[in-house]
Amino acid sequence: MLAFALTLLAAAAAAVVRPVTALGSSCSSPLGAGTAAPNDPYWLQNIKHQGIAAFNSNPSSYQVFRNVKDFGAKGDGVTDDTAAIKCGGGTCDSSTTTPAVVFFPQGTYKVSSPIIAYYYTQLIGDARNPPILLADATFTGMAVIAQVPLMASTSSLPGADADPYIPNGGGAQWYVNQNNFFRSVRNFIIDLRQMPASASATGIHWQVSQATSLMNIVFQMSTAAGNAHQGIWMENGSGGFMGDLVFNGGKYGLWVGNQQFTVRNITVNNADTAVYSIWNWGWTFQGVTINNCQTVGAVAIIDAFASNTPIFLRNSQPSNGKLAGSVVLNNVHLTNVPTAVGVVGGATVLAGGTTTIDSWAQGNVFSGTSQSAKFVQAAVPAPTKASSLLDSAGRIFGKMHPQYEDYAVDQFVSVRDQGAKGDGTTDDTAALQAVFDKFSGCKIIFIDAGTYLVSNTLTIPAGTQVVGEAWSVILGSGSAFQDQNNPKAVVRVGSPGDEGIVEISDIIFSTRGPAAGAIVVEWNVHSNEQGGAGMWDSHIRLGGAAGTNLLVANCPAGNTDASCAAAFLALHLTDQSNAYLEGTWVWTADHDLDSGGSRQTSIFSGRGILSESAGPVWMIGTASEHQTLYQYSLVNAKDHYLGLIQTETPYYQPVPAPPAPFSVNSNFDDPSFSSSQTSAWAVHITNSQDIIIFGAGLYSFFQNYGQTCLDNNTCQSQIFDIDTASTVFVYSLSTVGVTWQLSVSEQGVIPASAGPNGFAETASVWTR
Ligand SMILES: *[C@@H]1O[C@H](CO)[C@@H](O)[C@H](O)[C@H]1NC(C)=O
Ligand SMILES: *[C@@H]1O[C@H](CO)[C@@H](O)[C@H](O)[C@H]1NC(C)=O
Ligand SMILES: *[C@@H]1O[C@H](CO)[C@@H](O)[C@H](O)[C@H]1NC(C)=O
Repeated sequence: MLAFALTLLAAAAAAVVRPVTALGSSCSSPLGAGTAAPNDPYWLQNIKHQGIAAFNSNPSSYQVFRNVKDFGAKGDGVTDDTAAIKCGGGTCDSSTTTPAVVFFPQGTYKVSSPIIAYYYTQLIGDARNPPILLADATFTGMAVIAQVPLMASTSSLPGADADPYIPNGGGAQWYVNQNNFFRSVRNFIIDLRQMPASASATGIHWQVSQATSLMNIVFQMSTAAGNAHQGIWMENGSGGFMGDLVFNGGKYGLWVGNQQFTVRNITVNNADTAVYSIWNWGWTFQGVTINNCQTVGAVAIIDAFASNTPIFLRNSQPSNGKLAGSVVLNNVHLTNVPTAVGVVGGATVLAGGTTTIDSWAQGNVFSGTSQSAKFVQAAVPAPTKASSLLDSAGRIFGKMHPQYEDYAVDQFVSVRDQGAKGDGTTDDTAALQAVFDKFSGCKIIFIDAGTYLVSNTLTIPAGTQVVGEAWSVILGSGSAFQDQNNPKAVVRVGSPGDEGIVEISDIIFSTRGPAAGAIVVEWNVHSNEQGGAGMWDSHIRLGGAAGTNLLVANCPAGNTDASCAAAFLALHLTDQSNAYLEGTWVWTADHDLDSGGSRQTSIFSGRGILSESAGPVWMIGTASEHQTLYQYSLVNAKDHYLGLIQTETPYYQPVPAPPAPFSVNSNFDDPSFSSSQTSAWAVHITNSQDIIIFGAGLYSFFQNYGQTCLDNNTCQSQIFDIDTASTVFVYSLSTVGVTWQLSVSEQGVIPASAGPNGFAETASVWTR
């Protein structure tokens, strides 16, 4: 637990102008550059809106896309009828049947009370001219869309609110923050400057979990001395991604308490404290720029620039020993920053100046098979970074979620216009395949909101750019996906050996059970362009949602019914591929999102993410949970940057113990399971080179649904294995419920007992 303030850095984006070559496409005019006219709005505003919510109780009248101007938005406040359909004011249940995009055209929206960001909703501003949400001087409430309950307390906090408090609810919130999935807010300027400097004005209240993102948002705050403004306010939650954010002014850029969070590319200018963390179990900051802030701090920070800041990272705890918490710094450039790491009211731990910190840690350092921890506040071994992973300035490469803001509406093709139904019952395999075959590389393919059932492999050719709407679902179903001895891809991204770009965003890949033989996404494409083959805000969700047939009614906790199998393997990066994954959640449901949100299920998916790629591979803000054999497996992989990765072991294990109900399949290089390995591997690495893990949260909270094992870290013995043939660099590793945090060749090496850190145990560095 670090209390601190921080300023980090943004990777300057090299604008990529790319000629798109479509392979396997028969279209005659390649897409080329965007042709939107200077005054055109963002394409999303005017594209035909015909997305549906296939499993809504009234799909014919339910409206997925809502332009706030159609709901009376003019200047001061927005009345949105989502309040009628969705929760408001009490404890809310999760639901996958009310997906929505709330779109804000260019303009300035004066708001005097919060806009509520509902469950399963994307708030999207015009990406060409981001709308300004201007908090009125009289603003009351917590955060900025729809009618909002006022807070029990009276502080004035504008901005978007992802999880409102219930008035007089004793701190109760609408949503359980650890189950607050599927939300995204993009392309806004949130301006708090008309509010009094003394008001604790807040841009966004963001209490969220996996499959959430904040992206391309500028926060304008007071620069008055002693002001109380803050950009993001987050007290709890459980994971997620945010990136491409700029904070100007304020007392705090981000005031945060959360776990397993990934932040990429933020700039904080002139805040008193850039990042203030009340608690955390693992935050990875990648690419941060901090200018003229009073203090700065974080947990695992890679590629940072800070200037004219008294302290880069300030720790609330004394700097003696374990209480100091874990800090890892890599490639941190300081300009006129006298103290690099310091303690509140106390000592300088690491002097600053104008200097570069190559690789430094505070915490326990391990190497090889030695079980003894060495607590350091010192330089630590740096990872080998493959040049293919780095941008031209030597930072880990990053690429923003593509939004195609320069493209005109007629450069898109809608799959519904081409005959796909997306109603969750019609077999759309042929219709979708025809769209990809005809338009890949010539149009951006728009998958209107809906659930598209496919009964056989759908191939997304190299050269494709495809965009969903409120997480359009591709659902594999039927006899093709039944045989675990002969598994078959639901979606195949390129064929082995294919070269070209692929961009996938805002899509969920899923199955309808049973589907023990489904490889949900097989990724074969290779791009010579850095980050050319990638996926953003796209997820693999297995069971737990309407239409999957894997719900609490037929797959309640404790069942071992073979019909509750959801997949053989969720995501396979094959040996010739490479990939950029940002904000990807691979989740086999542990509970049913559509039956109250808390009823547990036992659903079986064999494997999470398997990478055999020779790289470069970036997994930025990814998570993989509840798969039977492993969450992440790297076999013969090379040149990967993984930061942060998060896992959970299935709650039912060890009943049955893995690989049951699957079997070990050597064609997929499965680990073998000794009789003592009665739980899934979170991470299993075999014969792989130059793998950097920069932040990991590997959790094992249950044993056959019981939690007494948490008391003495016996929910599982080993969770993370690296064989001796691999070169892996591990930083900022947190675990919960396990006896050994890391093993070498399946022998425990890092004892969890060496690194207590609040709720979790943390090891700062492991190298071979
Ligand atoms: C959320 O965080 C606040 C601290 O800001 C704490 O008081 C509250 O108990 C937390 N709620 C949950 C549900 O963890
Ligand atoms: C970083 O974010 C800014 C906007 O905040 C954006 O302009 C820039 O392209 C981003 N850079 C990368 C590498 O994503
Ligand atoms: C852990 O605690 C349980 C009781 O909750 C006990 O049965 C078990 O023996 C303990 N295991 C170890 C290794 O201490």
